[in-house]
Amino acid sequence: MPLMGKTIGERKPDYFTMTIKRQDGPDGESYYERFRIPYEPNMNVISALMQIRLNPVTMDGDQTTSPSWDAACLEEVCGSCSMRVNGRPCQACTQLIDELEEPVMLEPFSRFPVVRDLVIDRSRMFQALKRVTAWNPLDGTYDLGEGPQVSQEDQQEMYKYASCITCGCCMEACPQVSEDAPFIGAAALGQAYLFNLQPNGKKKQNDRLEALMGPGGVGDCGNAQNCVRVCPKEIPLTDAIAALGRQLTWYSVKSFFRR
Ligand code: SF4
Ligand code: SF4
Ligand code: FES
Repeated sequence: MPLMGKTIGERKPDYFTMTIKRQDGPDGESYYERFRIPYEPNMNVISALMQIRLNPVTMDGDQTTSPSWDAACLEEVCGSCSMRVNGRPCQACTQLIDELEEPVMLEPFSRFPVVRDLVIDRSRMFQALKRVTAWNPLDGTYDLGEGPQVSQEDQQEMYKYASCITCGCCMEACPQVSEDAPFIGAAALGQAYLFNLQPNGKKKQNDRLEALMGPGGVGDCGNAQNCVRVCPKEIPLTDAIAALGRQLTWYSVKSFFRR
């Protein structure tokens, strides 16, 4: 139960409680363990996990193993520390304990296979990037000369989408995404839109649109907007999805008359 609706930062307790959903391996049963962690101002979720690693003893006094989690950059750049914190998908390295209500609950993402404890397998995101050719193909490493001019407005528009860190928060929050559903997800759609904007990327625009026409493509988005609410980079994903929808309509009309 939240303690009087106050955040941990407002209460500044000596200790706070953290419950972690654990799983020993991909096929293991999940279980929960509770820990009592000494509070420090400005600590993030990763530093709380490191406190448990120093002394992996549950609140019941049982010795246990240190929970596993993923992290690399610790500055919201690599996207590897994604987890649900008090039910919300976020990056553990930038989620401050001070902003949370107690008890703190950490869970792995539910839309991705669990590798162990809080570590998930985000391969489906990288497969989705492959499906939409989220890169500019080059046919060699020789000097290609000057690149095409890009206006300031287009650079600013592209920059929003280029900040994606493939964290998967948008996928975790999306009601259309599940381990079995074919929907490609908002992140890959944002990247398809980004590469369709680029002068060099436009060469593969038709391939991207073809890849997004069928099941699992743009049409599977239900416009619930959850993706935008949880994206740590505040990427306007639904704008990209709407723009791709318009591109797909034009592409379908042109394809019809080309027959
Ligand atoms: S708008 Fe809704 S359905 Fe579409 S990708 Fe975002 S969360 Fe999913
Ligand atoms: S679009 Fe946002 S939430 Fe989705 S993977 Fe990229 S950074 Fe994460
Ligand atoms: S550790 Fe890289 S985003 Fe959190």
